[in-house]
Amino acid sequence: MTKADLDWAHLDFGYHPTDYNVRYSFKDGAWDQGVVTDSDTIPIHMAATCLHYGQECFEGLKAYETKSGDVVTFRIDDNARRIADSCRKILMEPPPEELFIAAVHRAINANRKYVPPHGTGASLYIRPLVIGTGPQVGVKPAGEYMFMVFVTPVGPYFKTGFKPVHLIVEEEVDRAAPLGVGDVKVGGNYAAGLRASMRARAAGYTEVLYLDAKEKRHIDESGPANFFGITKDNQYVTPDSPSILPSITNKSLITLAEELGLRPQRRVVDVEEIFEFNEAGCCGTAAVITPVGSITWHDRKKVFGDGETPGKYSDELYHKLTAIQTGDEPDPYGWVQVVPEK
Ligand SMILES: Cc1ncc(COP(=O)(O)O)c(C=O)c1O
Repeated sequence: MTKADLDWAHLDFGYHPTDYNVRYSFKDGAWDQGVVTDSDTIPIHMAATCLHYGQECFEGLKAYETKSGDVVTFRIDDNARRIADSCRKILMEPPPEELFIAAVHRAINANRKYVPPHGTGASLYIRPLVIGTGPQVGVKPAGEYMFMVFVTPVGPYFKTGFKPVHLIVEEEVDRAAPLGVGDVKVGGNYAAGLRASMRARAAGYTEVLYLDAKEKRHIDESGPANFFGITKDNQYVTPDSPSILPSITNKSLITLAEELGLRPQRRVVDVEEIFEFNEAGCCGTAAVITPVGSITWHDRKKVFGDGETPGKYSDELYHKLTAIQTGDEPDPYGWVQVVPEK
């Protein structure tokens, strides 16, 4: 297979066009067979519920090329379940798990030349989304939905790559409320966080770290990723909160942390604890593991190590996870699945 002519090692985390995407429609109570199209626009009714009432959710996962040339996905069934949870929470029609997996495979197969070559550090980012397409003017769920999957080759989410980022604790903006929709991947959560992210960047930070909206005391997560800290006595600590996205990467790191001799703990994390952590990191499909170099909270700043070098455990976790994802190390967990050609 001749690959697309791209500078694979220097790709950013942006939209790089590919040849095709796939779309399925839900109408009259059933999903159709879907189509593969080369159009990157969507004709949509102006009263569609996704445009007015935020009936929209999405997923993010990656495909990797292994050394032997296979294309693999990582824990795709978890993404299938999570998009269904997101759909149910905002009363949209969830695509069945088999349809989700078939659609992702179809989108990858139609764009195989865009799967970044093994060893370049880049991957094929996969963006499935479900939108309410049926018209409504009153606040009601749509009667029709579209499920789409597009793909785009990407490099690291934070342009520093595997280098520490600098976070500021956000106190003026809440991303999500405890009984709201912070635990699912709906677009509104990201719109709600834009102000905070842009302000943090303008002030010289990479991203924000959100606190729980109710007490403003406990760590929730970072803008696009979950958060973890490593304590002096080797615990891998990650927040338990009703308003954060259950990260598939974080769930995997909890398993790998144990293998590396760390003791994983998912629990409420007081913001003061950052001053006790030896290391901290952000984790997610896009962020992979991004070590945290410093966290600023009011007029206090915690610097991890020299603020520029990833900590020992963050480094080990990163290499372990990415080696499994790209097939360089065996996967004893059944997380990695080969994408069948056609
Ligand atoms: C808000 C938020 N938290 C956490 C994550 C990480 O989740 P995952 O590891 O499943 O990609 C993401 C990215 O999907 C996210 O958008």
